Amino acid sequence: MAVIAELSGIGLAFGRGAERTQILEGLDLSLDSGGFVAIVGPSGAGKSTLLRVLMHLVAPSAGKVCVEIPHERGRRSMALVFQDAKLLPWRRVAGNVAFGLEGLGLSHAEIDARVKAALDLVDLSARSARWPHQLSGGQRQRVGLARALAVEPHLLLMDEPFGALDAITRATLQDELLSLWRRTGKTILFVTHDIDEAIYLADRIIVIAGSPARAQGAFATPERPHLRSDPRTWRLAAEIRAKLEENGELIDFEI
Ligand SMILES: Nc1ncnc2c1ncn2[C@@H]1O[C@H](COP(=O)(O)OP(=O)(O)OP(=O)(O)O)[C@@H](O)[C@H]1O
Ligand SMILES: [Mg+2]
Repeated sequence: MAVIAELSGIGLAFGRGAERTQILEGLDLSLDSGGFVAIVGPSGAGKSTLLRVLMHLVAPSAGKVCVEIPHERGRRSMALVFQDAKLLPWRRVAGNVAFGLEGLGLSHAEIDARVKAALDLVDLSARSARWPHQLSGGQRQRVGLARALAVEPHLLLMDEPFGALDAITRATLQDELLSLWRRTGKTILFVTHDIDEAIYLADRIIVIAGSPARAQGAFATPERPHLRSDPRTWRLAAEIRAKLEENGELIDFEI
């Protein structure tokens, strides 16, 4: 399978002089086209920073970032979904989804078509004229996902997108995301601190931990379809927990 993004030997430090803190060190990551990879790691490990490195929003102090994604209108087609949807309160749902398309030189008709297609994908077409404050938390996250999908990204980066949701809404959105991934064949990199979520969604799980953070191990999940309750899942979750415990990193971890 074609590799579409590769990080090798990534090192990154914030601050200068005495304030300088090494966040990431010697970190490698490779993403196959159409794959679903999860990154699991404790709070503050550098997961969001890693996504920012992939998006070319932060330059690493060591290592190489190689993203082999076609450009669309001068931009690499990648999109990031945040933990809180970060919707613009003064724009309706459709306006929020259109936001990432403005300035790309698309016609109004094309923007409308993409907004409609993205809202269809997340099953929110009926709410396109609502204001963000009229939506539930789960619906707001779906709008955030639609906004990312509207740019038709090859690579979708998701930063704890369901972390703030209740368990039932989270399970529903996980299933919707899997179905969307199957239908669209997009490559997804999904950050979470929920081990069960990572196992349910991904093909491969990279555990990052330590200070500075390094990749502590990569785990392949069982063959699909993944079940929510399956002895193979429990065994894998135990292995991942053990890996985090080795690094003294299990406090505040959801399992
Ligand atoms: N712009 C910045 N300047 C200085 N330090 C930063 C900056 N951005 C992040 N950090 C620090 O880098 C470390 C990693 O942050 P990051 O947001 O990547 O963690 P994370 O793994 O995503 O955590 P969480 O699970 O809580 O979201 C933290 O200690 C944070 O304080
Ligand atoms: Mg983060």
